[in-house]
Amino acid sequence: MVDPQFVHDTFSAIASRYVAANHILSLGADILWRSRAVQIVADWHPSDLLDVATGTGDLALDIRRELPETHVLGLDFCEPMLAIARRRGLTHTLRADAMHMPFADASFDALTIAFGLRNLPNYAEALREFKRVLKSGGHLLVLDFSLPDGIAREPYRLYLHHILPHLATLLTGKRTAYAYLGQSIEQFPSGEAMLALMRGAGFICPTHLPLCGGIAAIYTAEV
Ligand SMILES: C[S@@+](CC[C@H](N)C(=O)[O-])C[C@H]1O[C@@H](n2cnc3c(N)ncnc32)[C@H](O)[C@@H]1O
Repeated sequence: MVDPQFVHDTFSAIASRYVAANHILSLGADILWRSRAVQIVADWHPSDLLDVATGTGDLALDIRRELPETHVLGLDFCEPMLAIARRRGLTHTLRADAMHMPFADASFDALTIAFGLRNLPNYAEALREFKRVLKSGGHLLVLDFSLPDGIAREPYRLYLHHILPHLATLLTGKRTAYAYLGQSIEQFPSGEAMLALMRGAGFICPTHLPLCGGIAAIYTAEV
């Protein structure tokens, strides 16, 4: 189970290097993954969108650029990450816990969360909280890492547990943050398991789109 205090302190410590480290460690693939997510969201034409665990605002800013008419609010519990999001131009931010959000039921047309759900202490409860704040007919999009199936799985795990932590320590000076990344990916449900979690939280029509051979995935669902 993820410890929220550890997660908070970890992201506070790496906030200033988070954006660059992300792009370097994923060889820029995270930019393509967010761009795919934005295309999906654009088809929903949301008026009010909540980006949970917005961090330094990468996905929220991309959505706002693509959908200037959409009101985009970025929520995160880590002030140093939000401060960077604001400096990068995300005008609407809120510091709050994703597990207990200060919104009335049925407040948003769409909710996005990129590389965030994996960091929450209870995935099923988090999904139920997301469903609560979405309007009837609203849409959820989850973008996160996963483990590839087949022959790519073991080489990828080798990279995740033995190479990435060293590279990340060089880039951020924080080894624990990236040792944690590997563990969190191992325990995060992917594919059919995530679709089942979404159904269990009351969402309908869940979908799964593997990215880059399954090292990341986009899930969507409706209320
Ligand atoms: C890996 S970053 C993702 C940032 C951004 N969405 C992106 O795509 O780069 C995870 C973010 O989740 C936030 N987070 C983790 N647990 C949270 C919680 N319980 N409530 C709100 N934010 C949380 C962290 O503070 C961090 O900014």
